[in-house]
Amino acid sequence: MQPRAEIEALFGEIDIYLFDQLARGRLDTRRRVLDVGCGDGRNLHYLLRRGYECHGLDRSRASVERLRTAAREVEPPVSPDHFVVGEADALPWEDARFDVVISSAVLHFADDTAHFGRMVTEAWRVLAPGGLFFARLASVTGLDGFADAAGRRVRLPDGSDRYVVSDAVLLHWTERLGGRLADPIKTTNVQGARCMTTWCLLK
Ligand SMILES: C[S@@+](CC[C@H](N)C(=O)[O-])C[C@H]1O[C@@H](n2cnc3c(N)ncnc32)[C@H](O)[C@@H]1O
Repeated sequence: MQPRAEIEALFGEIDIYLFDQLARGRLDTRRRVLDVGCGDGRNLHYLLRRGYECHGLDRSRASVERLRTAAREVEPPVSPDHFVVGEADALPWEDARFDVVISSAVLHFADDTAHFGRMVTEAWRVLAPGGLFFARLASVTGLDGFADAAGRRVRLPDGSDRYVVSDAVLLHWTERLGGRLADPIKTTNVQGARCMTTWCLLK
């Protein structure tokens, strides 16, 4: 098997920065995982097959149904109840329910700062002490001409409309939540068209 096929067979389309967290062992003992805004669950497929207790939430019913179908095919099958249609700012789980909360390409769909704050606060609420919060989101870090746009929805050079953050905004939220950075905040600049930041916190 070629490397590409082998990696895809094992990890599917997993986000490369979440893969990095796996490779660092951050999920070795954190076994209860919630993916908020899970979409079709590309970030859960490996974990499901490895027997992690996986849950997901998305506002798209079609996406949740596809993930439920995939979860039924895992051995042993995972209950469809683990994957629910809902809103990221009103999570239907009790406090400290999960060891890992994933928010991959979701927070930048916030309507405004209040909505962003509610989503972050909810993710943090359901995370257990010692848990890992993994977020990837659009930012203005290193994006020419956007220095003043952090904390607002803007049209990015790639034509997308996103709620964007900066390192300062994320550091403010890190302190407000009482978390600590698991890694330095890291940003990928996609040739000046958009920037995606990885924000990993320990509770
Ligand atoms: C770009 S996709 C990312 C999907 C997945 N996290 C991934 O990395 O492949 C964004 C997903 O977030 C969901 N979403 C956006 N805002 C949401 C919200 N406020 N509550 C729940 N789901 C939301 C969308 O329905 C969509 O499935």
